[in-house]
Amino acid sequence: MTMTELSRTFGKHSVDEQEREQRIRRVFEAVAARYDLMNNLMSMGIHRLWKRTLVRMAAPAPGQCIVDLAGGTGDVAALMAAPDRQVTVCDPSLAMMDVGRARGHGHVSWLEGTAERIPLRSASVDTVTIAFGIRNVTRVEDALVEALRVLKPGGRFLCLEFSTPHALVRPFYNLFSFAVIPRLGAWIARSPEAYTYLVESIRRFPDQRAFTALIEQAGFTDVRYRNLSFGIAAIHTGTRPATAAPAA
Ligand SMILES: C[S@@+](CC[C@H](N)C(=O)[O-])C[C@H]1O[C@@H](n2cnc3c(N)ncnc32)[C@H](O)[C@@H]1O
Repeated sequence: MTMTELSRTFGKHSVDEQEREQRIRRVFEAVAARYDLMNNLMSMGIHRLWKRTLVRMAAPAPGQCIVDLAGGTGDVAALMAAPDRQVTVCDPSLAMMDVGRARGHGHVSWLEGTAERIPLRSASVDTVTIAFGIRNVTRVEDALVEALRVLKPGGRFLCLEFSTPHALVRPFYNLFSFAVIPRLGAWIARSPEAYTYLVESIRRFPDQRAFTALIEQAGFTDVRYRNLSFGIAAIHTGTRPATAAPAA
């Protein structure tokens, strides 16, 4: 058996998973400098409204410890930050976080880490948010269990992600995502592959109900979702049960 076959069979991550992780890392290293501009153009600024809705639902409060997974350049963290609470962006891409740091978001801390392995103690966090990040995670189930682990009993998980739009808007949405977004990616971010990846990863992601089931399977209770803009995006929420034994 070759090393490749060995690691494919016995390795913690399969070779396919490792390749996918590396490809995703390269995508965000490549687009970091133009990421926010592209976001504004592609969503016509609507992603800002969706993020504000996420933050309103998260209801950050004084004294809380809040972690924004896949926090990238710190958009969501900046909306939650204040001197009386601890808000941390956790992301594997130093390039994305460097862009955010340079922007000088006050009262935001930056932590290198993935959603599958959050470098924080169990039961130490009040709220975990993740915006447009879970789709990039190779092992979604592991990331959900990891979010549950770091949350205190009663702590909340909120996930904003592209989802499955209502059938009425789907034809327009598909046209926009397959014809316009990769062209914008080529033109503005000079990275058409990155934005083709983006569109494909949105299509592959489970719909609202299937993702609800995954969150419940990870051990969250009170799992709900709220559609945004006819389901083009959705915010899923869940709570770490008060009775759950802290994970190791
Ligand atoms: C589409 S961006 C979203 C950034 C930010 N949350 C926002 O809404 O603007 C996706 C982010 O996921 C990060 N990412 C990629 N793989 C990840 C993983 N396994 N765990 C956590 N974050 C990851 C990327 O580095 C990137 O910053």
